[in-house]
Amino acid sequence: MGIRGIIREELKKLIEADYYDNFPDFFDPLYNPQVGAYPPVGSHSYGPGTLVREDYPSSWDVEEFKKLSSFNARIKYCEEHLQRISSGSARIAYKIDDQKVLKLAKNKKGLAQNNVEITQSGYGDIDGVVAQVFEYDEDNLWLEMELARKVKKSDFKRITGFNFDDYAAAINNVGVEHSRRGYKMQIDGDLFQEMWEDEFTSEMFNYIVGYEVPTGDLMRLSTYGVVKRDWGDSIVIIDYGLDKDVRSSHYS
Ligand SMILES: Nc1ncnc2c1ncn2[C@@H]1O[C@H](COP(=O)(O)OP(=O)(O)O)[C@@H](O)[C@H]1O
Ligand SMILES: [Mg+2]
Repeated sequence: MGIRGIIREELKKLIEADYYDNFPDFFDPLYNPQVGAYPPVGSHSYGPGTLVREDYPSSWDVEEFKKLSSFNARIKYCEEHLQRISSGSARIAYKIDDQKVLKLAKNKKGLAQNNVEITQSGYGDIDGVVAQVFEYDEDNLWLEMELARKVKKSDFKRITGFNFDDYAAAINNVGVEHSRRGYKMQIDGDLFQEMWEDEFTSEMFNYIVGYEVPTGDLMRLSTYGVVKRDWGDSIVIIDYGLDKDVRSSHYS
């Protein structure tokens, strides 16, 4: 193959790898060199001082996506244009960029759970324990949530100062005390007291009591994620859509 052939082959590879789709176009009037990305879909510039990146791949067409009228069509569109992170019983999470995931409802349970997360993420008294939601669909078809990393027990200990197993026992006991159902687990009284005085764990306990949150899922590490907050790494609930009402109307 001559030099032209080689160049042609290399260019083809780059195009197939979507290299050019992802490469910022410096000549585009909407390109913001400070932020290094295009403004959020639907707006024409970043507000002053914003550092939010909205990095849907350029093949993503929000208008096209919004036109789709079935769960299957939306899933197909996301599978084609975004990278799937993981799927639950009700929703599929896709990576939007390094900071956000798209949680797409797969079914009616997904709509109900998206609705709870959209609503509760706006509550100031629990914003330290639940993952943030950004843009969302009015009909609960999808929401954008802060991207969280998987939590290991060692992360939990490093970030909160508590062992996950002790924390899970405490969560269980708060739930039992509040609902007067189930059995308490063994936990040191002083440690439990310490958790009631700690900012993170007490907010979690108050969340359970105040919003009547079923505690089963909260005792599993996979319900949580690590996110970056102003002060550093933080643990938050990434799957909090299954509240009491959703559980009783869709899961029992
Ligand atoms: N904010 C997030 N960051 C990273 N991954 C997430 C996030 N939210 C959910 N996921 C992943 O997507 C999967 C499905 O989301 P989940 O909230 O559990 O949906 P479901 O309601 O179907 O259980 C989760 O198991 C998790 O791995
Ligand atoms: Mg789940």
